[in-house]
Amino acid sequence: MSRDSFGSRLGVLLAMAGSAVGLGNLWRFPYLVGENGGAAFIIIYLICVCFICLPIFISEFVIGRRSQKNAYAAFRDLSGGSAWRWAGLMTVIVPLIVTSYYCVIGGWAFAYLFKSCTFSFTGEASQAAVSTMFSSFVSSPWSPVICQALFLLATTLIVIIGIKDGIERFSKLMMTLLFVIVIAIAVYASTLPGAGAGFEYLFKPDFSKVTGESFAAALGQAFFSLSLGFGTIMTYASYVDKKDNVLFQSSATAIADTMFALIAGMAIMPAVFAFGINPQSGPGLVFETLPYVFGQMPGGGLIAILFFLALIVAALTSSISMLEVGVAYLIEEKKFNRTKACVALFLLCWVVGLFCALSFGPLADVKLAGRSIFDFFDNLSSNILMTLGSLLTVLFVGWRLKKTDIYDEFTNGGTISTNVKVFGVLWFLIRYVAPVAIIVIFISGLL
Ligand code: PHE
Repeated sequence: MSRDSFGSRLGVLLAMAGSAVGLGNLWRFPYLVGENGGAAFIIIYLICVCFICLPIFISEFVIGRRSQKNAYAAFRDLSGGSAWRWAGLMTVIVPLIVTSYYCVIGGWAFAYLFKSCTFSFTGEASQAAVSTMFSSFVSSPWSPVICQALFLLATTLIVIIGIKDGIERFSKLMMTLLFVIVIAIAVYASTLPGAGAGFEYLFKPDFSKVTGESFAAALGQAFFSLSLGFGTIMTYASYVDKKDNVLFQSSATAIADTMFALIAGMAIMPAVFAFGINPQSGPGLVFETLPYVFGQMPGGGLIAILFFLALIVAALTSSISMLEVGVAYLIEEKKFNRTKACVALFLLCWVVGLFCALSFGPLADVKLAGRSIFDFFDNLSSNILMTLGSLLTVLFVGWRLKKTDIYDEFTNGGTISTNVKVFGVLWFLIRYVAPVAIIVIFISGLL
């Protein structure tokens, strides 16, 4: 049976950017920038992206496209059947864990889109009231569970349709919509009186706020935001045409992801500051602070609808990329057909996600290693397994595979002159800089 593949270069770029642009850009990046010295942090972030994450991204790309296989088989076949296959298996399992809890948040976004359409936050008297609305929603035994199932169902349906007709078509359409919405909100937010304080928070360079932790925060954020160490880029790359340019696609994705994060900051922070509120990170920002701000703003009803729509779109284009990793594995290794693979993984992620969804309410007292079920999975996958996955990927490419094969894949057999010129630097970054930086920053994060 012939393998499905992407239909166009733009499709590849938007699917990869779709995977990269997600909750990480909307609810964590703007906050991290503000907390860690504005433009000073942005510079550190850009250095991490260029010198550490881009080489890892390219490594994943090369593994995927060279093998034209799912992540497990890619590691297995390229290493001649060695124990490296277990690294591949890990990159298949991790995204499934993440899909399970990512869909919980996606479900919340569904619920909040509904709340926005019914103008639930309009004119709400205090931020505390909006926070109570959120805590009673997430702790209820039904609504979050139903919403999580709906979000996962939407993810699964897109993946069932396939790479070109499902993932590529959806990502192309939705990424365009996403950029338009977020730019429109950013333009509107900049006109609010008092918005300047938000821009100052984001962009005023303050090197005194940069600490050792800022580096770990920048690198961790760059990993998560570029979807590294999860087998997603590898899997998408396995559907990419051999004539495509690895360097161009990888850099364009990194640029789109970073630009989106900055625009998201410009959409969110000026609005938050215009209402004299201190920004938070994560769910608190998106489901407590912002709904309150929208409720106070002129025209905020419409902005809320657009914002939650953007949140859903950003999360969906990421979750489909995670699900595809496991689907590719089941189709190629276990001989499932696409529909059966999707249904099997839907059920698996639904059950795991159910526990995550309930861990804010009925299962709040269940602790794993001292954390709630949701936090346990989040911490395990986004902090530990993701870093490990990225480290193994660069070690695999830099130390296990043949330099000539990597050169061949990266330069399309020596035919792309820019790639030929930069290969030496890239090889050095993959072999030495990226692994050392990952280890140093990971250990410093543990101390
Ligand atoms: N990059 C996505 C985000 O920023 C998350 C993600 C991680 C998606 C890993 C796919 C794989 O939210």
